[in-house]
Amino acid sequence: MAILENEIITNLKRINSENAKKAAKLEISDEELADIDKEYCSYGDKIHAENTPKVFRDCNGSFMYDSENTPFLDLEMWFASCNLGYKNKRIRDAVVNQIDTLPQISSHFQYDYKVLLSEKIAKANIKRFGEKGRVHFNVGGSQVIEDALKLVRNYTHKNRMFSFYGGFHGRTLGASCLTAGYRYRKPFGHFGEEAHFVPYPYSYRCPYGKKCDSCNYYCVQQLRREFEDNCSGIYDHSSKECAMGAFFVEPIQGSGGYIIPPKGYFKELKKVLDDFGVLLVDDEIQMGFYRTGKLWAIEHYEVKPDVITFGKSLTNGLNPLGGMWAKEELINPEIWPNGRTHSTFCNNPIGMRAGYEVMTTFEEKDFETEVANKGKYFLEGLKSLEKKHKRIGMVDGLGLALRIECVTEDGYTPDPKLLNDILAEGLKGDLIYNGKKYGLILNKGSHYNNSITLVPAVTISYAEIDMAIELIDQLFTRLS
Ligand SMILES: Cc1ncc(COP(=O)(O)O)c(C=O)c1O
Repeated sequence: MAILENEIITNLKRINSENAKKAAKLEISDEELADIDKEYCSYGDKIHAENTPKVFRDCNGSFMYDSENTPFLDLEMWFASCNLGYKNKRIRDAVVNQIDTLPQISSHFQYDYKVLLSEKIAKANIKRFGEKGRVHFNVGGSQVIEDALKLVRNYTHKNRMFSFYGGFHGRTLGASCLTAGYRYRKPFGHFGEEAHFVPYPYSYRCPYGKKCDSCNYYCVQQLRREFEDNCSGIYDHSSKECAMGAFFVEPIQGSGGYIIPPKGYFKELKKVLDDFGVLLVDDEIQMGFYRTGKLWAIEHYEVKPDVITFGKSLTNGLNPLGGMWAKEELINPEIWPNGRTHSTFCNNPIGMRAGYEVMTTFEEKDFETEVANKGKYFLEGLKSLEKKHKRIGMVDGLGLALRIECVTEDGYTPDPKLLNDILAEGLKGDLIYNGKKYGLILNKGSHYNNSITLVPAVTISYAEIDMAIELIDQLFTRLS
């Protein structure tokens, strides 16, 4: 009897491990997946931007691997969600340890890593802005934007906000009101609380036709004029009351095409906001966590935001956690008490542990210098391509947030077709580097659908940057 029992247990173990193996390495072809996908998956997500979405099976560091095990150098990194590279061992080990200790806990209860992560972020901001604040979490970027909207409305009792042309703040209903592109709202009827959109300081294609070195921040002057006009609809000069709650800004535009404002821009803007009592919400969901060589990209501009929103690389892509930091005045428990906003998974321990490890990693090494140096090196490579290829209109970058504008033969007109062709060609996986086959993963953004946005891991090596430049060169040579 005992022998049979042992046999059964051994057999069960074997079957389980075979199933586990099968599950871990799903024996299903890309074609079979595509058939099932066509039948059962919603096309409402972003995956189906392509007719047949590319399938990947593995990832490591700066690379994704497809079904043939072809390495694809990833210069998109899940829309800047994996700044510390795929399968980062330290963060992975921390998450596994969390799964083995306290993987689940109701958000009625408190635990260590949530408190400690809040402390880390709050203290990092005291250091940077000299400002005491608190941190509030939620389950992703758009949800955090919703929370920031609530926080501003709760404090100011105003529901009108400013946002920028080309700004992207998410796709939930509230966040869609701040996201400029009409295409994000078009299918869904009327949005009562659309932001008041103003031009972004996109100096290469200035909406006012000005030149950056001589315009004296003309765009900011235009905004000031709106406030000064008693009949523009945003300010009442007799009661000195402003109709607007906050200005939601991206310090570097992400989906807008990695546009880097001039150095003094945000200081000038902040003067106007301060003069008329409008809060500054700094959306760092895409540019935070050393993407630009600082914890927050706004630090390059030496202004103090009232609220900071963050997500994506907070957990290095291992958990859909985001958060907002706000000045004490806006978020202290008197004004922002229990239950103002909440979601079941917003305090989940796996995300908090990953976030804690990400912040610790950034504290322990000089990423500020490292990212600045790598960014400079990458940009120099891109500038050499700009000289070589007529169809590159311009290149720019801050840290490892970089862009290439694809243009027509005239050297300036945006060329969305060239951009799309280049992205598709990179995904074919047939570029050759050092005698070996590679693919290249690139992303796109911009006001005119013509910019390649480059978002490498901040852990990318110099050899990988050389490879990136060579592969981009090959793509432009093939297609232009
Ligand atoms: C600046 C910015 N804000 C908000 C969001 C929305 O975040 P999520 O996609 O996690 O909802 C994004 C996403 O790309 C973003 O780039």
